Amino acid sequence: MLSRRNVLKTGVLTTGVVGAAGLASPVLGRRDAEAAEPAGGAGPEAIGAPAVIPQFAVPLTVPPVLSPLLSSGTTDYYLMTMKKLSKEVVPGKRTELLGYNGLVPGPTIRARKGRRVVIRQTNLLDTPVSVHLHGAEVPVDSDGAPMDTIAPGGSKVYTYPNNQPAAPLWIHDHAHHHESEHVYRGLSSVYLIGDDNEQSLGLPSGPYDVPLVIRDGRYDENGQLVYIMDDFRNRTTITVNGSPWPYLRVAARKYRFRVLNSANTRFLSLRLSNGGTFTQIGVDGGLLEAPHETAVLPVSPGERADVVIDFSRYPVGTQLVLENTLGPGPVEQVGKVMRFDVVRTASDDSTVPARLATLPTPLPATVSRSFVLRMDEDGRAEPQAYINGRSFDQARIDVRIPWGSTEVWTVSNANTTAPHNFHLHLVQFRVLERNGQPPAPGEAGLKDTVRVLAGETVKLLISFRSYRGVYAYHCHMFDHGAMGMMGQMEIY
Ligand code: C2O
Ligand code: CU
Ligand code: CU
Repeated sequence: MLSRRNVLKTGVLTTGVVGAAGLASPVLGRRDAEAAEPAGGAGPEAIGAPAVIPQFAVPLTVPPVLSPLLSSGTTDYYLMTMKKLSKEVVPGKRTELLGYNGLVPGPTIRARKGRRVVIRQTNLLDTPVSVHLHGAEVPVDSDGAPMDTIAPGGSKVYTYPNNQPAAPLWIHDHAHHHESEHVYRGLSSVYLIGDDNEQSLGLPSGPYDVPLVIRDGRYDENGQLVYIMDDFRNRTTITVNGSPWPYLRVAARKYRFRVLNSANTRFLSLRLSNGGTFTQIGVDGGLLEAPHETAVLPVSPGERADVVIDFSRYPVGTQLVLENTLGPGPVEQVGKVMRFDVVRTASDDSTVPARLATLPTPLPATVSRSFVLRMDEDGRAEPQAYINGRSFDQARIDVRIPWGSTEVWTVSNANTTAPHNFHLHLVQFRVLERNGQPPAPGEAGLKDTVRVLAGETVKLLISFRSYRGVYAYHCHMFDHGAMGMMGQMEIY
């Protein structure tokens, strides 16, 4: 058995400062400090030496858009199959992966508001799976709940109504006790809802609208992914759309990037190496009301940032590295994500209008609830994680909510070092406050996942007006969810 001595904490810098020595974790516990393990080095439970992977050596690939098998006046029908595959991630080696339709990440689904998507998912793996559409308002039998699994060899039809605004959503595995490893090994696909409003804006589109699915992994010298629960400090290879530290040749014009942090536990804070800005246009659940310029883009696991980068600001020949300022791990590795190479001029008739969307008017809340996130951080061998003092129990409904209710949920992180975030199925919420202050512009939209760093408190406004049933909420650091930081709400 592998030791779980490292399971306690996932390090995340909150200052954004990169020291010369690298991205040391500020949250090393006493045991970690005594172990004096080199950052990114192999611990005693090492399986193999880490792979050596060159940076900016492979081009970014863009997952293909999946074509429907059939389209009716109201519905697009798709087939997806989960199976094993192998792919070159480490030069000269084949990494065994789990993918949707033989791809990692899987193919992108492009849905349209008001048109249904129906996907028949077939499980050709040897473990149970559950296919969750993260960020979607869906009936409970299509939510992909942790216990609602597809057995090996089985299949299940998921129906997505797409009655929500244009948004970058995410298909990922959610089978209880398997989701962490399944997503780590590749079960992840981008799902984009579009609508008339978004289309009317003139944002960069077609080849200039690119998903960037960022995650981390630990690859051994044979090119295999090493999965150890909460092994965050050794997952120091950063991949974008499945390729390690890729480059993208861009024209000197505007591009739209749908950034998704699909890592199991790694928080990211992105920036451009020249200090240039991103124009953020959207978040998890859709477009912001107005764009805002920012040089810093924080994205925790499960969060999305919809941004435009205008490369016409930079002369042809410029190379811009997309950097990450958060640890843990060596800055030469986890501090870099990908590189944009400006290689040609181009015409550009895209725009980013000053007004992007009208958010739904917040409804007055009639119920308030509190949720305290906490995990054992005292160094015990099998740490547990809790919400309001209780670990996940599939037989227990934690919160009962009458349909139609609007509520304020106050979520706090009672840990002294471990970061968490908080994700609800079924709903898009608004962040009312972070530590008593109004949300920053990058959080002032429809959200389904919110960062809650150690000691922080967020207040969320949530309306439950779509579907009834039992849905999950949890920390989206998969390993924390698996340790018990998950609950169930019933909308009745
Ligand atoms: Cu993306 Cu229950 O999660
Ligand atoms: Cu979800
Ligand atoms: Cu957590």
